[in-house]
Amino acid sequence: MAAIRMDGNALRDEVVAGLAQRIEELGSPDICLATLLVGDDGPSQRYVNSKHKKAAEAGMVSRHESLPASATQAEVETVVRSLALDDSVHGILVQLPLPDGLDPEPVLDLIPAEKDVDGLTERSMGRLVRGRPGLVSCTPLGVMRLLEKYDVPISGRRAVVVGRSTLVGLPLSLLLNRKGTDATVTMAHSRTADMAGVVREADIVIAAAGQARMITADMVKPGAAVIDVGVSRTEAGIVGDVDFEPVAEVAGWITPMPGGTGPMTIASLLENTLTAAALQGVVTLT
Ligand code: GUN
Repeated sequence: MAAIRMDGNALRDEVVAGLAQRIEELGSPDICLATLLVGDDGPSQRYVNSKHKKAAEAGMVSRHESLPASATQAEVETVVRSLALDDSVHGILVQLPLPDGLDPEPVLDLIPAEKDVDGLTERSMGRLVRGRPGLVSCTPLGVMRLLEKYDVPISGRRAVVVGRSTLVGLPLSLLLNRKGTDATVTMAHSRTADMAGVVREADIVIAAAGQARMITADMVKPGAAVIDVGVSRTEAGIVGDVDFEPVAEVAGWITPMPGGTGPMTIASLLENTLTAAALQGVVTLT
């Protein structure tokens, strides 16, 4: 059986086109996403560029701030403070990881909850834990959109999230588990005993460990949905956490890498930016 390919590029385009239409219907207000990139990491620069490109396609304005890798903690925090105070900026994204020596936690917590389009501040994460409305981090939200779009059954099913990062694994486990979604969630990680046995139990596998091709076909229950969030830079190029071709023979659904969860992260970021603008009273969403 060949798995259904979950096309993140196509769904992202659909989301961006939908946003463009909604923003036009709202009278094309200036909705602004600001990004901050510290350092000159090539892949991070490309991610940030594509966020700006897609923001423009959605009818949003965007602003980019950059600092050299040698920037101090205080310099980074000064930029974020000024974006936080700027009424013309509705969403703030600090591209992670920050260069060595910079602590992301105090930087992120300078972002006001209503501008936190990445959903990574303590207040946004706290709201997610408490089941209260708020901005939710983009990759987990994008994964949920993909599962919905492809009608993957979730309620009552077993989901295994491999990787417990605050960017992906942790918030995604909360989204899958929450009332109304109702998966039974196991979090697996580098210390999990019998990883293959744990993953084999899953109807939904979220591979978010950043370990190149660690999910192999023998670990996957036939018919399971396999979502690849991993990105590893190897000598063979950028690869995901899933050994794609063999796993696609076993799984029921699978995301390609690239072209699966990555584009959905951007789609969710732009949706969050519209929500953030509404939280700040720039638009009224119905
Ligand atoms: N780096 C890789 N993915 C992300 C993301 O979703 N948000 C931020 N801020 N940085 C990232």
